[in-house]
Amino acid sequence: MELAPEQEFLVALQTSLAQEQLVKLTLSKCSPKSSELTHLYIRPILIKDRLQLSFTYRYTTKDIVKNYALKEAIAILEEQLGSHFLNATLLTTTADWLLQYNKKRKARLQQRNPSTTEIVGTEHNKQKNYLIAEDSPFLSNLGIASHGKIAKKQQDKFRQINKYIEVMSGLLEQADLPLVPQVVDMGCGKGYLTFALRQYLAQHQQDAKIVGIELRPNLVEFCNNQAAALGWNNLEFVAQDILTYDNDKIDVLIALHACDIATDIAIAKGIKANAPLIVTAPCCHKQIRRAMRSSQTVNNSLAPLLKNGIVEERQAEIITDGIRALLLEAHGYQTKVFEFISSEHTAKNLLITAVKKTNKEQPDPQLLAQIEAIKADFGIETHYLETLL
Ligand SMILES: C[S@@+](CC[C@H](N)C(=O)[O-])C[C@H]1O[C@@H](n2cnc3c(N)ncnc32)[C@H](O)[C@@H]1O
Repeated sequence: MELAPEQEFLVALQTSLAQEQLVKLTLSKCSPKSSELTHLYIRPILIKDRLQLSFTYRYTTKDIVKNYALKEAIAILEEQLGSHFLNATLLTTTADWLLQYNKKRKARLQQRNPSTTEIVGTEHNKQKNYLIAEDSPFLSNLGIASHGKIAKKQQDKFRQINKYIEVMSGLLEQADLPLVPQVVDMGCGKGYLTFALRQYLAQHQQDAKIVGIELRPNLVEFCNNQAAALGWNNLEFVAQDILTYDNDKIDVLIALHACDIATDIAIAKGIKANAPLIVTAPCCHKQIRRAMRSSQTVNNSLAPLLKNGIVEERQAEIITDGIRALLLEAHGYQTKVFEFISSEHTAKNLLITAVKKTNKEQPDPQLLAQIEAIKADFGIETHYLETLL
């Protein structure tokens, strides 16, 4: 008798476990898309010499790890597959198995050649399960790792890469993206985060076309050489000022630590292209600070506080990024502003994320009025992002 796809999938899981061939199992594409629980990562683990399955429940803001005996684990999977999660990828050393559910919850199972033939250690907590593994070849190409081990001085960079990918994994699930999204990374520098995203998408069998835009030609040449060396032909870098970059087909717009108004230019390009997902990490905030300084009309009770340079600087940051988020909302985006890695690792750690929720003919007038009021309070004539929209 022929087995249903999900049963065949669970048999493949149990067989791989019995034959010590299980690498990992990932459940993704949650339903509903707005769910806080975005992924479930499962790997074998030895606890007091007994083989169990370790489940990492990834929520938008936290991870929860629980370990289960096989029978209990299978019962949970039976419940989750096709209900909360619509994709499941089982990696074993002999084959990869991909279980996918369509909108009608009909399952389809594909078997592919194994993407890895190595088993990760199963000792409890032997190694942290990073989304981007430290032996990913691109990390060596970019000089972050050597022989599969992260260089001592690059530990912070490695943590930042993984934190960024963790945030992106949740956002990519929430955004309404086409089958092969066009990703544009503006001001990509040496491309650490651009390469990391390419790696993550490939790990999840997600096709994409990725472009990094960077002013400095030497960095662009370096990145293109490394992409070619890795055989990554869907990743390319272009030496260009983002101001002159014209593309109305952008699905994921990224601008991380691009200087001052470069962040505004990037956000405006994303909004104009109607990008389903915009992710920016602002850098310096000179434009609004200058506007506050030159103003004679700071109008609110905070004015005396702004005599102190550091307070004025922080206030300028809050106003700059707060108005950016409000403008995104006015254009139909759901935004979040948060620190994406502890400030002990990098001072530039604020992230503004925006997922397109509604198409608006005109920006929301109520939100625009709120922005006007804030500007009036601080004597700011204009926020640079407004002038671009
Ligand atoms: C601080 S680096 C950040 C690199 C990378 N995004 C990251 O977060 O690791 C900022 C990069 O943006 C580039 N950049 C700044 N303004 C730009 C512009 N107008 N057009 C293109 N690139 C720009 C700079 O050359 C620099 O390499």
